[in-house]
Amino acid sequence: AITVDPTTQGAKIDDTMYGVFFEDINRAADGGLYAELVQNRSFEYSTADNSSYTPLTSWAVDGTAKAVNDDGRLNARNRTYLALGADSSVTNSGYNTGIRVERGKRYDFSVWARADQGTRLAVSLTDADATLAEARRITVRGGWAKYTAHFTATRSSTTGRLTVATGGPAALDMVSLFPRDTFKGRENGLRKDLAEKIAALDPGFVRFPGGCLVNTGSMQDYSEASGWERKRSYQWKDTIGPVEQRATNSNFWGYNQSYGLGYYEYFQFSEDVGAMPLPVVPALVTGCGQNKATDDDALLKRHIQDTLDLIEFAGGPVTSEWGRKRALMGHPKPFRLTHIAVGNEENLPNEFFARFQQFRAAIEARYPDITVVSNSGPDDAGATFDTAWKLNREANVDMVDEHYYNNPSWFLQNNDRYDSYDRNGPKVFLGEYASWGNAFKNALSEAAFMTGLERNADVVKLASYAPLLANEDYVQWQPDMIWFNNRASWGSANYETQKLFMTNVGDRVVPSTATGTPSTTAPISGAVGLSTWATTAAYDDVQVTSADGQTLLSDDFSGDASQWNHTGGGNWSVQDGQYVQTDVAAENTMVSAGDPAWHDYDLKVKATKKSGK
Ligand code: AHR
Repeated sequence: AITVDPTTQGAKIDDTMYGVFFEDINRAADGGLYAELVQNRSFEYSTADNSSYTPLTSWAVDGTAKAVNDDGRLNARNRTYLALGADSSVTNSGYNTGIRVERGKRYDFSVWARADQGTRLAVSLTDADATLAEARRITVRGGWAKYTAHFTATRSSTTGRLTVATGGPAALDMVSLFPRDTFKGRENGLRKDLAEKIAALDPGFVRFPGGCLVNTGSMQDYSEASGWERKRSYQWKDTIGPVEQRATNSNFWGYNQSYGLGYYEYFQFSEDVGAMPLPVVPALVTGCGQNKATDDDALLKRHIQDTLDLIEFAGGPVTSEWGRKRALMGHPKPFRLTHIAVGNEENLPNEFFARFQQFRAAIEARYPDITVVSNSGPDDAGATFDTAWKLNREANVDMVDEHYYNNPSWFLQNNDRYDSYDRNGPKVFLGEYASWGNAFKNALSEAAFMTGLERNADVVKLASYAPLLANEDYVQWQPDMIWFNNRASWGSANYETQKLFMTNVGDRVVPSTATGTPSTTAPISGAVGLSTWATTAAYDDVQVTSADGQTLLSDDFSGDASQWNHTGGGNWSVQDGQYVQTDVAAENTMVSAGDPAWHDYDLKVKATKKSGK
């Protein structure tokens, strides 16, 4: 029975309570939310990003074409261009099965080109069957300039190809094709169906751009001085201004990101969906298992200044240096920036905190109204997590970002997680969470857990499921909330749970009590998951098997973790009499290793109770 007391007022629930976390993982940006249809448009893919890449990845050449990186380039940060020989052509195959066009719709083509004498380019859209639109002709003359044309598709296709052919020699860069029909009709805009699915969630905030994407790699900038560093942290200044002047980056998830979807576009998107933007900046300590602290004080100071500049870019007047850049990009009015997060999943709490404090002091001195969000490291990091929380509490930090990914039973068992959090301590930003799977049981366990978040809305101020998007042909991480390919997109069961909560945010918690509810204690045999533990004292002969019967763990449990064996890797240990998995990075490896047993966390633990216990 449930007893509701409508006369007592519980915690206030903020409109911003539920949001989304967008990270460029699973090709969520290029080939995903960013509507560009040409893959590798600026020939910047490199084997340094991914061993299968070359500057001509996704391009097919007929005749002669060479990727060139010399002083004749389009600009300093867009290093490589294509030298196309006379009577030659290049054809781009887009993402997934190809370029998708819809009959009757308009597509905008553009290219930066240079040719010594008047050279005719023929641009065509075709698939294996025939043409998809009337071909266009462009005459290129002189130094680098942007040329445009548009197509109206005469047929629909999901296997389109874009071909640029030339009569005489020509240099090409930034070969681009955009649907005119982007979300809210924005130029350099977003893929409509995906953006609409996100908008339908009515998100209170958008956390971006990562994730591990932000806080790993070198903290150097993309310049000659840093040796044109390719694997570097996500730095917002790389991502603004005219797209042809933006750097590209080899991202944490193993592919090249164009930064066509950059900070201006993130702010614009947040505004378009009525959400508060919540950027994450690198903290000069690499998280996500890399665990390296940067001791370069000048570099730290530069990143702190970059963060101050970011706040000015978002909200400064048009007369300010960075506010002016925003205005030039088309948004003289400030964006509504109230929160900024420093760092992501820090495994070195002391090193992180020393740097975080410097970021916080500088931001608060200049922008006292901005909430600076700190970080706890991943929840399953044990002692590290506790140390981080202690440091955050002692320093009266406003808000701490927590992350966890667990099996559904964990979410059922931990509904009360925040009931015991200190009401006077830092508030919680649950920046990433998900149960391991996109099945109905996962969505249901998350819904049950979210009732606990909401009941504790005085402590948990912001929460976002993660990750948000996955292109089904380029998956690094699952589960994910919204799935897509070049033809369609679809929400998971977990998406429906999020939508239910996000579009029905209450004003206040109405206190209630329940009796006769089922126990949430994990049964020692039955469906349990990876973080399930058995007490050393009480059990013997413990076996953990996956749903398909594979034995993952078995031992006559003696309390010595080294005696445990398991498939798939991962660090397991015994702590305080509990058997726990401790290494989230190894767990990630198991997920991406493609072993189906690890995608179905419906594990079974069998244990024999010690006699007399
Ligand atoms: O959401 C996917 C990844 O999970 C994020 O990049 C990282 O913060 C976490 O480990």
